[in-house]
Amino acid sequence: MEWGQIILLSIWLLLMVDVCRTAGMEPSLKIMSRRKVLVISLDGFGHHYLDKYPWRYLATNLYSAGSYPRKFRNQFVTKTFPNHFSVATGLYEEVHGVIGNNIYDSSLNKTFGMDDKELFMQNPLVSPVWTLNEEHGGHSGCIMWPGCGVAYRGKNVTFLSPFHQHALFNESIDKSIEWFTNERTPANLIFLYHEEPDHVGHIYGPNSSQVEEELRKIDEGIGYLYQMLTVHKLRDTVDVIVMSDHGMSAVKEENVIFLDDIVDSSLYHISGTSPLLNVWTTFVTDTHGNHGYPVDIPNMEPIFVAAGPSFKRGFKAPDFSNIDTYMLLCHLLNLAPGPNNGTADNISSILVEPISSTLIRPLSVTLGENLS
Ligand SMILES: *[C@@H]1O[C@H](CO)[C@@H](O)[C@H](O)[C@H]1NC(C)=O
Ligand SMILES: *[C@@H]1O[C@H](CO)[C@@H](O)[C@H](O)[C@H]1NC(C)=O
Ligand SMILES: *[C@@H]1O[C@H](CO)[C@@H](O)[C@H](O)[C@H]1NC(C)=O
Ligand SMILES: *[C@@H]1O[C@H](CO)[C@@H](O)[C@H](O)[C@H]1NC(C)=O
Ligand SMILES: *[C@@H]1O[C@H](CO)[C@@H](O)[C@H](O)[C@H]1NC(C)=O
Ligand SMILES: *[C@@H]1O[C@H](CO)[C@@H](O)[C@H](O)[C@H]1NC(C)=O
Repeated sequence: MEWGQIILLSIWLLLMVDVCRTAGMEPSLKIMSRRKVLVISLDGFGHHYLDKYPWRYLATNLYSAGSYPRKFRNQFVTKTFPNHFSVATGLYEEVHGVIGNNIYDSSLNKTFGMDDKELFMQNPLVSPVWTLNEEHGGHSGCIMWPGCGVAYRGKNVTFLSPFHQHALFNESIDKSIEWFTNERTPANLIFLYHEEPDHVGHIYGPNSSQVEEELRKIDEGIGYLYQMLTVHKLRDTVDVIVMSDHGMSAVKEENVIFLDDIVDSSLYHISGTSPLLNVWTTFVTDTHGNHGYPVDIPNMEPIFVAAGPSFKRGFKAPDFSNIDTYMLLCHLLNLAPGPNNGTADNISSILVEPISSTLIRPLSVTLGENLS
């Protein structure tokens, strides 16, 4: 063999080693070096709650250090499952079909409740971002977020923590950190649902001391999250989005109408409770809370704030909608978005590097990128 051939062969061998290393590598490893996103939803956190508590950690770690819109729009009906599924899919409620926490389908004469997978599988077009992420070699984690316990296109999320009542915010944060730092299949996208302050807001009303106490716990939880992100050296890689699905409106006991007093209950179907058709139990406090009202009622306005390496600091953006979050997440994770009703028009302004149409590119480009 001549020297020239030997040198060529050596170069070829070196190249092969590199190709094999890349080919044999778990796709997750490549994505691990990239961005990670944590999406936290605080159920029933009305925008008006921002004035209700002297925020410490939410203010410093998120609002001052990140971006938020002048107004964050949610979808009608302003209920929990419909809005959470709109965030994950970028679709209007009437398009994904989850138009209530429970729905009655008159054509099937069937009621779908929160535990029924069929509730989320009404439209085969739905393409939740956690599924897109799995399909492209990422690992999604899901803590109690409505709809993520279902396999879409035959794919489950890698990490799942199903709903349980009174889950501690702290514990959900610990779980998220554990998944982000998992050695074998590190999560690059986590959806974390927290049931407060919705739960106490319903029972005691939005102006109650009980809601204020939950807000205090949430603020401490945010402090704990940033402490943990620092300990695990994740501050520079994790983008954090904190949002809510809807607000909370006070409902006086004297305004509650008992339907049974007016209509024979055998005459109608009930599926879930909504402000338009409410069933009430007798209770000790005289004010409760509810949501589900139209989106232009100020008490229904949710919150959105995003902080991390991808986002501008202390930036107030023009209005955007919760379905636009889908476009944002796809961009952050370099995923080609599925069919959706969102737009990147305004939400793009919160990014340090705004979305250009050429940036939403096929993932193969990402996978070929260098690890270092
Ligand atoms: C709908 O289902 C219920 C049982 O769940 C049954 O009693 C009722 O007759 C059904 N109605 C129709 C129109 O099929
Ligand atoms: C998804 O997870 C469920 C358990 O939650 C399991 O029964 C099912 O087989 C899984 N599906 C796939 C496609 O992995
Ligand atoms: C709740 O507090 C707000 C001011 O923070 C006040 O405008 C509203 O009337 C109060 N609602 C009730 C039902 O007490
Ligand atoms: C969990 O949160 C509570 C406040 O909600 C706090 O008192 C407690 O110390 C936290 N636990 C941990 C392990 O951080
Ligand atoms: C963008 O922001 C402007 C100003 O806040 C608002 O009028 C417009 O409706 C917003 N567009 C979208 C798509 O949200
Ligand atoms: C929302 O998006 C879906 C999927 O692309 C589409 O079928 C539907 O027509 C859109 N709805 C509206 C009102 O634009």
